[in-house]
Amino acid sequence: MIRTSQRKPFRATVTVPGDKSISHRSIMFGAVANGTTEIEGFLPGADCLSTIRCFQQMGVEIERLSETAVRVRGRGFEGLKEAASPLDVGNSGTTIRLMLGLLSGVPIYSTLIGDESIARRPMKRVVDPLRKMGARIDGRNDGRFTPIGVRGGALQGITYESPVASAQVKSCLLLAGLNAEGDTVVREPSQSRDHTERMLPGFGVELEANGTEVRIKGGQTLTGTKVRVPGDISSAAFILAAALMVPGSQVTVEHVGLNPTRTGILDAFRMMGAEVQTEITAHWCNEPVGNVTVSCNDLHGVEIGGALIPRLIDEIPILAVVATQAYGTTVIKDAQELKVKETNRIATTAKELRKLGASVEETEDGLIIEGGTQLSGGYCHSHGDHRIGMAMAIAGFAASGDVVVEGTEAMDVSFPGFADLIAQL
Ligand code: S3P
Repeated sequence: MIRTSQRKPFRATVTVPGDKSISHRSIMFGAVANGTTEIEGFLPGADCLSTIRCFQQMGVEIERLSETAVRVRGRGFEGLKEAASPLDVGNSGTTIRLMLGLLSGVPIYSTLIGDESIARRPMKRVVDPLRKMGARIDGRNDGRFTPIGVRGGALQGITYESPVASAQVKSCLLLAGLNAEGDTVVREPSQSRDHTERMLPGFGVELEANGTEVRIKGGQTLTGTKVRVPGDISSAAFILAAALMVPGSQVTVEHVGLNPTRTGILDAFRMMGAEVQTEITAHWCNEPVGNVTVSCNDLHGVEIGGALIPRLIDEIPILAVVATQAYGTTVIKDAQELKVKETNRIATTAKELRKLGASVEETEDGLIIEGGTQLSGGYCHSHGDHRIGMAMAIAGFAASGDVVVEGTEAMDVSFPGFADLIAQL
């Protein structure tokens, strides 16, 4: 349980835990690389720990040198051994979708399972194209849902036009493509996060990426490397939003990833009238890293949709919270993907915000939020979804009474230490 209440204006400089997407990839790529990969700034969140355990089950030696430092002793794709029990991805969609691609081309059998939320999430979006490449995959409801089994084998490269802008689909197929014959090409309707494309060259892989199309040649091997993980902009978004909820506040988040395929939330805050300053101070693993400062001005409602959506897809719950404090109406559209996240985030965001007196309408592909409301205190629930829990805790910063959020263990999925950090603001 976490309790938050109306805050006085604050100024703070903070750091946030490592990027979840990059942390997952650093383990996966390191596990199938030849040689050692040393990871610094790793996110010790439940999702990334699930990824570590899955590869350990397949015989990969992975050591936690400290909370955030990890050493992976990869022995190539050939180093993966059949696990004696199902690989449990927990709550992590990234783990299961990327692993399905990676395992499709490795000659071992694996069963993948996860928690209740994973059991509801669609796997057909990766199973269909993987089958086109020749993958042997079966699972509940013809491979739509977990448990899913994959018997890796020979694959053929394909050109795939993905109907959704999804980094998980794209990355899954690129990982399968590494072991396929010929080229694999993935096109998407608008660009999703490009961490796989940025990181693989660091492991010695050649690929061509240009916006919405990525091409990878089959038969490539990976070489171990050093990875330094930037702070997760998706976690930073909660802290930046906290400052926007309390007029007169200012917050700086340091050493955070500023990859343009992830910074849509900063653009959205700017569109709402917030003052947002960014400064790129370094590049780690081909990823821009720097500081973001946000200060609270009068905010106004905006319309968010189109190519901006994949660039802020995980930030929509907290954006909706901020929109309750902006003057006028905020319309979020083209965001039907929210329905297949850890929860149906259109439904859970609306349901929880209404408990605090917000005026929120659910639509087929998003939300309509009437801003300028005084939020009340109330009892909220994470629904087992880390980002819903954190968004509601931040809502408390502008509420007239206490906001109590239950189901806070979910926050460990991506942001261990969230409660302590916001207590300091
Ligand atoms: C992720 C991709 C996104 C995002 C998820 C992490 C990744 O999912 O929502 O939190 O690391 O590739 P989709 O690819 O399903 O949009």
